[in-house]
Amino acid sequence: MELNRMGSTAGQVITCKAAVAWAPKQPFVIEDIQVAPPLASEVRIKITHTSVCHTDVSVWQIKELVHVFPRIFGHEAAGIVESLGESVTDLQAGDHVIPIFQGECGHCSCCRSSKTNLCEEFVVNPAEGLMMTDRKTRFSIRGQPIFHFMGTSTFSEFTVVHHAQVVKVDPSAPLHSICLLGCGVATGVGAVLKTAKVEAESSVAIFGLGAVGLAVAEGARIAGASKVIGVDINPKKFIKGKLFGLTECLNPLDYGQPIQQVIHQKTDGGVDYSFECVGNVDVMRTAYDSCHKGWGVSVVVGVDTSSRRLLEFNPLELFEGRTWTGTIFGGFKGRSQLPELVDKYMKKELQVDEMITHRLPFLEINEAFKLLIEGNSLRCIMHMPNSGY
Ligand code: APR
Ligand code: ZN
Repeated sequence: MELNRMGSTAGQVITCKAAVAWAPKQPFVIEDIQVAPPLASEVRIKITHTSVCHTDVSVWQIKELVHVFPRIFGHEAAGIVESLGESVTDLQAGDHVIPIFQGECGHCSCCRSSKTNLCEEFVVNPAEGLMMTDRKTRFSIRGQPIFHFMGTSTFSEFTVVHHAQVVKVDPSAPLHSICLLGCGVATGVGAVLKTAKVEAESSVAIFGLGAVGLAVAEGARIAGASKVIGVDINPKKFIKGKLFGLTECLNPLDYGQPIQQVIHQKTDGGVDYSFECVGNVDVMRTAYDSCHKGWGVSVVVGVDTSSRRLLEFNPLELFEGRTWTGTIFGGFKGRSQLPELVDKYMKKELQVDEMITHRLPFLEINEAFKLLIEGNSLRCIMHMPNSGY
């Protein structure tokens, strides 16, 4: 479909290409699927660019979620509104948008509070595969429903998203870059600026130097942190890490003692702030232990989907005065606050392009997954066929 014919398909079922996951961990199959028109409160988006984030990989691998297959994954993307359901008044066909997995209804107790970006109505749940509007799917193949993912399902040329999960952005911002603000960049930068509220001259430790960890480094740079320590077991990640302002890189495998002890020695008792960007319960504990007694704050950014293991924590540790918290989408209220981050990027105050290590046609999605799983990419942006970009 040509971009200038946008809107001509409104109200009709669209047949387009999507990467269908037929079963957990099974390679994606590019299929011709049907995408129904949006219902009231929904928006149909022509995705132009999408990337792969580790959460797609983690959830795709969970065997227990087999009941939500076949499924269309993807939650880090950008695109253009194709058509709107009834009652959507704040968007128009042709608007440039970023779909967001953390919706903002705008009127619940959380949305009315400036203290959180959580929403009572839109709760992130990777096990959910239906549209909340009618508990059905908008995707089908040969008459069989295909489940959604995080309300976004961006591994498709067209997707249907609730309008509370759609952010209108500056049309002059390049979609092939700002798609990363749909998850990784916003999550990492927001973890620092919104969740932890890191002050200038602070010391910071970042565990995991994928795109999310590097976005934390970028947030630390913006906040004016003076010491930013990157920790990763893959030393290849240190090269890019230095470009993102890490003052020191540590590989836990190089030390004969726990890495939190090394960090304590290097920082006179621990860092002011630590961030877990791996998604591993043991690393979460290590990140917490790396913080300074009395004031250290540790933020969990990574999602551990690999097991149901619990964190070991003795309540007496509370008297040591550290704070432990987590962040979803970096604390950004997507609809109202993501456009600010786009502006920051446009004013060259935020590095995003530096995270893009690969670009591939969407049809090569299995290769994009392989690159991330094997630790060879930070972000691989896939462009849709005929996206015009
Ligand atoms: N200690 C330190 N670093 C580790 C460890 C460990 N034990 N295990 C893995 N890592 C590193 C990897 O080498 C990799 O560089 O963590 C990094 C994770 O990066 P990516 O796989 O690129 O993941 P990313 O997309 O950045 O997401 C990170 O945030 O949004 C969540 O679900 C996502 O949990 C994931 C996390
Ligand atoms: Zn809400």
